[in-house]
Amino acid sequence: MITREHLNRNLLEAEYAVRGPIVTRAQQLEEQGKRIIYCNIGNPQALKQKPLTFVRQLLSLLENPDLLREPEILKRYHGDVIRRAEAILAKQPSGTGAYTQSTGIPFIREAVAKFIRKRDNIPARKEQIILTDGASKGAQAVLLALLKENNDGFMIPIPQYPLYSASLTLLGGQQIGYQLDEQSGWQLSEEILTASIDGAMRKGIHPVCIVVINPGNPTGAVLSHDNIRMIVAFGKRNGLAILADEVYQENVYDPERRFHSFARVVHEMGEQQVSLFSVHSVSKGFLGECGHRGGFLECRNIPDDVMAEFVKLQSISLCANVPGQFTTYVMVAPPQPGDESFAEYARERDGILSALKQKAEILGAGINSIEGLSVDIPRGAMYAFVKLQLTPDKGEEWNALSEEERTDRLSRMEFKYCMALLEQTGICVVPGSGFGQQPGTLHFRMTFLPPLEEMEQLVDKLRQFHERYTRMVPAATE
Ligand SMILES: Cc1ncc(COP(=O)(O)O)c(C=O)c1O
Repeated sequence: MITREHLNRNLLEAEYAVRGPIVTRAQQLEEQGKRIIYCNIGNPQALKQKPLTFVRQLLSLLENPDLLREPEILKRYHGDVIRRAEAILAKQPSGTGAYTQSTGIPFIREAVAKFIRKRDNIPARKEQIILTDGASKGAQAVLLALLKENNDGFMIPIPQYPLYSASLTLLGGQQIGYQLDEQSGWQLSEEILTASIDGAMRKGIHPVCIVVINPGNPTGAVLSHDNIRMIVAFGKRNGLAILADEVYQENVYDPERRFHSFARVVHEMGEQQVSLFSVHSVSKGFLGECGHRGGFLECRNIPDDVMAEFVKLQSISLCANVPGQFTTYVMVAPPQPGDESFAEYARERDGILSALKQKAEILGAGINSIEGLSVDIPRGAMYAFVKLQLTPDKGEEWNALSEEERTDRLSRMEFKYCMALLEQTGICVVPGSGFGQQPGTLHFRMTFLPPLEEMEQLVDKLRQFHERYTRMVPAATE
C-alpha cells in the first residue's frame, strides 16, 4: 500500500489554508450538531445566497431539454429563457452531455469577447479566449505554462489568495512575495515591487510573471487606475508577463472606486510587448455560482504559436465542464431590457450587490468598534482581512527569539485564536498566516457573506468572544 512517503513532495508541501485544519474541525463540529457559520471561503450560496432565477431556469432547460416539449411546465418559465434555451440547443445540439472544443463552445467564446469589448471599449477576439473550470484552472494553466525552470519566480501579493502559493509549490516554482501596503488601503507600491524583485534576483531567482488580484482577496482593496498603469510599466521594464485575477470585478462597493481591467489599461497604454493573462469566473460577483465551475482566461499580446500551446494544454483535459460554460455564457450575456426576465434579473442582481455593500459596512464598522481588532472597511470582493492584536503568553521571552521563531509563535497564536473562535461561536475564519502577512502582525480573514439579518449578531458574537479571549490571554495590545 502506498504511504505518504510515496507521494509527490510538492503535494505534501502545498498548503491551502482556506480549507485547512480549522475547516476540517468545523466539519466535525457540524457533524456533531453544532451550527457553523462558514466565513472561511467566498462561497455565497453556501451562506444562503439565492441563485439567480434566470441562470437556474436556463440551466434546467439545457440539462433537460425534454422540458421544452412540456407546455404545462413551460408556463413557469419566462419566454426569453425558453427562446434562449432553444437558440443555444440549436447551436449546440449535444447540450451539456458531450465534450466541446478544447477551448470551449465557439459562440460562448465569442460572447466573452463581446463582453470584454463592451466592458472596456477595446478590441477582443474569441481566439484569445479559453473557457475554463472556474478561474482557478485558467490561473493554474498560466503558472504551468510559464514555469520553465525551477528558479523561475512569480511575483505574488502578500497577503494573497493561496491558489497562487499552493499552485507554485505544486509546480515547483519560486514565489516572490510583494507586500501590499495596509496603511494605504492595500495599494501596490513601486518601491515595494522593485525591492522584492531585486531581492529575488539577488537570490538567483528569475522573475517571469507578476500576479495581481484586483479587487483583492483577502484585502477587499480595489486598485486605482494609476496603480494598474504603474504595474503594467513595471511589468514591461522587468520583462514580466502579467496574470490579472479579476474574479471580483463586479464586487466594488465604494462609490469612489471603479474596477479597471488590466486589458483596458494595457490597451490604453498602447502596450503590445507585455503579455497579459486575465481570469474571470462565475463564482463571485452576484452570480455566486461556485459549484458550476465556470470561467474564462483571456490572453493578450500572445503570439499565435504560444496561444496554440495554451490550447494544447487545455486539450489535455479535453474541455471545461459544459454546464459551467453555459453559466459563463449567462454571466457575459445576461437578459437585456425588454426581455421578460430582465426586471427580475435586475432586481435579484441589485439586491445581492446592495446587501453585500451593507454587509461589508456592518462587518467593517462592527470590527473597528472592538478593541484589539481593526480592518480597512472592504471596498470590494467578499472579505475582511482583520488585524488582530494579542500579546504573547506571559513568560515568553519575546526579544530573545529569532525573527523566524517569532513568526512561528505568532502564527500559532493566530491559529489558536481562530480555533477557539470556531469552538466557542461556530464562526469559521482563516488565520492570516494562510495568506501571508507583514512579519510581526496577526490577522484573520472572514467573508461578509452571511445573510444581512445575521450580520449584527455575527459581530456581537465576535465581540463577546474577543473580549472573553483577550481577558484570558492577558492584555490586548501589540
Ligand atoms: C482571487 C480568487 N481567484 C480565484 C478564485 C477561484 O475562483 P473559481 O471558483 O472561479 O475557481 C477565488 C476563490 O475564492 C479567488 O478568491
